[in-house]
Amino acid sequence: MKILVTGGAGFIGSNFIRYVLENRPDWEVVNFDALTYAGNLANLADVADSENYRFVKGDISNPDDVRGVFGEKFDYVANFAAESHVDRSLYEPNLFLKTNVLGTQLLLNQALESGVKRFLHVSTDEVYGSLGPEGYFSEISPLEPNSPYSASKASADLVCRSYHMTFDMPVVITRAGNNYGPYQFPEKLIPFFITRALNNESLPLYGDGLNVRDWLYVEDHCHGILTVFEKGKDGETYNIGGASEMTNLEITRMILSILGKPQSLIKFVKDRPGHDRRYALDYTKVKKTLGWQPKMKFSEGLKKTIDWYCNNQKWWKDILSGQYRQFYELHYKERK
Ligand code: NAD
Ligand code: TYD
Repeated sequence: MKILVTGGAGFIGSNFIRYVLENRPDWEVVNFDALTYAGNLANLADVADSENYRFVKGDISNPDDVRGVFGEKFDYVANFAAESHVDRSLYEPNLFLKTNVLGTQLLLNQALESGVKRFLHVSTDEVYGSLGPEGYFSEISPLEPNSPYSASKASADLVCRSYHMTFDMPVVITRAGNNYGPYQFPEKLIPFFITRALNNESLPLYGDGLNVRDWLYVEDHCHGILTVFEKGKDGETYNIGGASEMTNLEITRMILSILGKPQSLIKFVKDRPGHDRRYALDYTKVKKTLGWQPKMKFSEGLKKTIDWYCNNQKWWKDILSGQYRQFYELHYKERK
């Protein structure tokens, strides 16, 4: 099998590439990534010299780049490439639409033309909008996205669906909960708070801190994606849930207590506009039809993640000393 992984230099994409190289050693992997602020080849330093892995720099929203990479034939395409941070989508919605919607459509077009056997689009539970205290999102829940990020992901999902319905293209969609684990860019809640706590800096919790997310360990997600690639049915969508609902406040308290830092580092700040209250996924479909379910317990996964950030300080300190700081300073000035 030869697989094109877009966005493979980011958090989940790099974990997926490592997972495939370990678990499907006869596959050939091409990583196609624009190396935006979130793309980092250091995420793959340990596998960069593998014989069956190659990196190609390119932008999914640039027709020449996409045509160029499809100069060779692939069996599978896994589309991870995206602008992925809700807070950034408040400042640059146009970039989210360009990358996440138009980029996905360009990839679909080229993949269709070259006759791939399967195109897997990596999506998110955020496309469903926000839940109250009860209930779960299933694959047939309405799409009610509330941020420019989730609207762009929902739009991309619909374009994927249309390529299956209209052109009979072998497309599958996965919708996962919030991922956590090694190599997550330190602007997302868990790595942001771990790295700030290690630096004895305050942890800015939005609103009352009681928003709920359904946390999924990244390795479980990679296993879920591989399962859908190999056993999923064309045209179907699969929820990949973590069975780990937590409030942001609970997670923050756990991080501080594992690191032995004072709870007084918590700072409640102005809420995120359009902040979804709760996400929770019903993943019965993938469990019953493909036999996948999450394995990692949240408390164990969080400890593993914290250990990784403690043992890989150069990785995140290099990121924090770069351009990223500009976004951080602009954004948190507004949250005060
Ligand atoms: P990330 O921001 O860590 O990585 C995104 C990667 O895409 C980076 O390497 C970046 O350089 C690359 N990229 C961005 N724009 C590109 C472009 N125009 N062309 C080529 N490459 C480009 O994101 P992530 O957290 O790894 O998320 C990966 C995918 O999974 C995204 O599609 C996201 O919507 C989805 N997802 C994420 C989560 C989560 O909790 N992180 C949950 C569910 C779904
Ligand atoms: P985030 O990691 O940005 O993921 P998403 O918005 O895609 O779910 O945020 C997870 C939750 O943590 C979300 O409810 C917003 C909250 N949050 C904070 O309270 N403070 C922060 O500094 C960040 C980055 C997030």
